[in-house]
Amino acid sequence: MKHYIDFHEDVGIEELDYLLDIAADMKAKTKAGIEHHYLKGKSLAMIFTKSSTRTRVSFEVGMFQLGGQALFLSNNEIQIGRGESIYDTANVLSGMVDGIMIRTFKHSDIEDLARYGSIPVINGLSDDQHPTQMLADLLTIKECKGDLKGLKLAYVGDGNNVANSLLQACAKAGMHISVASPKDYTCPEKYVLQADIDAAVTGSKVVMTEDPYEACKDADVIYTDTWTSMGQEEEKAKRIEIFKDYQVNSELMSAAKKDAIFLHCLPAYRGYEVTEDVIDGPQSRVFQEAENRLHAHKAILVNCFLNS
Ligand code: CP
Ligand code: NVA
Repeated sequence: MKHYIDFHEDVGIEELDYLLDIAADMKAKTKAGIEHHYLKGKSLAMIFTKSSTRTRVSFEVGMFQLGGQALFLSNNEIQIGRGESIYDTANVLSGMVDGIMIRTFKHSDIEDLARYGSIPVINGLSDDQHPTQMLADLLTIKECKGDLKGLKLAYVGDGNNVANSLLQACAKAGMHISVASPKDYTCPEKYVLQADIDAAVTGSKVVMTEDPYEACKDADVIYTDTWTSMGQEEEKAKRIEIFKDYQVNSELMSAAKKDAIFLHCLPAYRGYEVTEDVIDGPQSRVFQEAENRLHAHKAILVNCFLNS
């Protein structure tokens, strides 16, 4: 079964090149108006227990463009929201659809869905990881910079789901990654160790620091994310105080290479993790990155559906 749950476990180093090639091909075909109904007659169930704009729209439109259909199942509508078990949900959906994309809180719920079901499962974000975002990010970096190998990405801010997946993805791609976070808000050791393992193979370097300037020095890509992720709303005021020195602004951008690009998975909160002049400025590629979710997700869908 070809799942896409954990970038470290589910995406091989060579497979990553293959996925990026398919994503680029999907983009070219979409732009040229060439029909690509590789998933004709297939259905994707999309379970969301957290909000989404990009992930929902890109998977739904992606399935349509691939000749299939997607079903949006929010927590209010699906019985999981009223306590139906992951076991029963996995078995029921396995009999009716060809794949599941799920965005939820507990990462283990996504793993359980895959364990109990008999169809591919795609992780549309958990508290721990955001792997679908990574393929779109790497595609964007590749489009802007060419070869990924040897580039340096600096992530500044919360050691959250996006940061964990970036560690996994950059190491697989042979990109150097530096993560700058406050002491108690860095990525869990597990993700640093995973990145170290792949980095040893791909020849990249993984650096964890508390100093945003050290992280951003000579970087090709500067990346940040919200200081308050979904589910942490009550900590918002405390987090604004803790992360105030981790804002990506023009001064921090100037530590990077002159031609560095700025990325953000979005949604962004201008004036907090990033200033308006940076996210809306000439180095920002955030909307190209957002559009690439569509093309990258189509590559993930085709790979999961046709190779399971
Ligand atoms: N970046 C991202 O996953 O966006 P959504 O929360 O809008 O899906
Ligand atoms: N870290 C953010 C990412 C949103 C796409 C969150 O989990 O809310």
